[in-house]
Amino acid sequence: MTTVDKKIFNSIKKDFGISIGDMRHIIKDFHSEMIKGLNGEKSSLKMIPTYVDRPTGNEKGSFIALDLGGTNFRVLGLELKGNGKMSTPRVKKYALHVKHMRGTKDELFDFISEAVKDFLISEKIKIEDTAALGFTFSFPVEQTGIASGRLLKWTKGFSAKGVVGEDVVELFNDALRKNGIGNVTVTALANDTVGTLATRSYEDPDCDVGIIIGTGTNACYPERMSNIRKWKDPQPKSNEMMINIEWGNFNKLHLTIYDKRLDGVSSNKGQQILEKMVSGMYLGEVARLVFDDLIKKRVLFNGVKVSPFRIKYGFKSEYMSIISGDRTRGLSKTARLLEGIGISGSTAEDRKLVRTVCDIVSTRAARISASAMAAVITKMDKDLSRRHTVALDGSVYEKHPGFARNMRIALDELFAGKSKRIRMVLAKDGSGKGAAVIAAVAASS
Ligand code: BGC
Repeated sequence: MTTVDKKIFNSIKKDFGISIGDMRHIIKDFHSEMIKGLNGEKSSLKMIPTYVDRPTGNEKGSFIALDLGGTNFRVLGLELKGNGKMSTPRVKKYALHVKHMRGTKDELFDFISEAVKDFLISEKIKIEDTAALGFTFSFPVEQTGIASGRLLKWTKGFSAKGVVGEDVVELFNDALRKNGIGNVTVTALANDTVGTLATRSYEDPDCDVGIIIGTGTNACYPERMSNIRKWKDPQPKSNEMMINIEWGNFNKLHLTIYDKRLDGVSSNKGQQILEKMVSGMYLGEVARLVFDDLIKKRVLFNGVKVSPFRIKYGFKSEYMSIISGDRTRGLSKTARLLEGIGISGSTAEDRKLVRTVCDIVSTRAARISASAMAAVITKMDKDLSRRHTVALDGSVYEKHPGFARNMRIALDELFAGKSKRIRMVLAKDGSGKGAAVIAAVAASS
């Protein structure tokens, strides 16, 4: 790299950096947005009451659960046995196609109810039997009850027409009836973060945060009823309720020119700002915009004219994980990946630079996630006076090399020795199982 190239690159690196001071700022702003959201004032954090408390671990029964919110749609059957124990779920996956995600509400809900019918048949559950169903629907929904809620907006590339503003449980129940399985009733509607938290806290009473860092990102936690000032409904028996933060929309963050470019041409401009810097739907695109710029400035690939980095969303977040995890000599795995997407003859220096960019973008994501997580924990327990288990799930958290470690490093910087009180656990498939747990909590309250 020439001195000029180094200068260009270092300024990009600096712009993506999140110092400890930045993390403290994020935490402060996050707290203030959380409080505004809980008061019902204008805030980038919706702070949605979920009408459900954490499980006790004693809930029992058989439940069907649905999990909709990413690239797959899953139906699960599972038994809760009490004492924090549950059966291994029977799971069936159904691939979602563009027409389901971006077509009409009928195309989406008919498909879901067909899948439920198929699941009942394959599980030999009699169609005429009544069954309670927990529905994980991982989008911003303003809940109006444990089993009702209006979709506020679509995220993660979904745009099925006729759903925003509607009660998604009603739409689903209609589709079930139309399909001849109206005796299956949705008894609980939950966000995936709530499902993840519920699944882990069924067996671990210290668990009080659920986080997803996958295609989209979000978190939930239990809040004292007295702090939910906007609550107008009758007070529930329990004095706390889980809050779906919808943290993907947090917007008090420093944006680089690349973030601004990404947001500027997105279909939800000005929204889901944190999600656009953290989640798997966007990480590859942020990196691509940096590569494209470095190519134009002739710092990378000798300024090649035709490159895959010119194509919007042409560089996937999964590629970043492969590159960040490449331990081969001379980054030969990265060389093969680049060749596969149309960049041949990259130099070792090019590949090193590509890897550094992937690391910079993903480290920023991990440090923003850790700051937001720290904000949620310190909102409940200012001085970290007790233990907290955080249940995490999602492809970025699980699969991006070093992501979890970078979150841990950030926590250590923020809390020094006390950071040990925060335990981060992978709660695999928590969102699906959690819908069943929440249906059980609903049945027992
Ligand atoms: C949605 C959240 C969801 C998160 C993780 C976001 O795009 O708005 O409701 O929890 O993705 O799936």
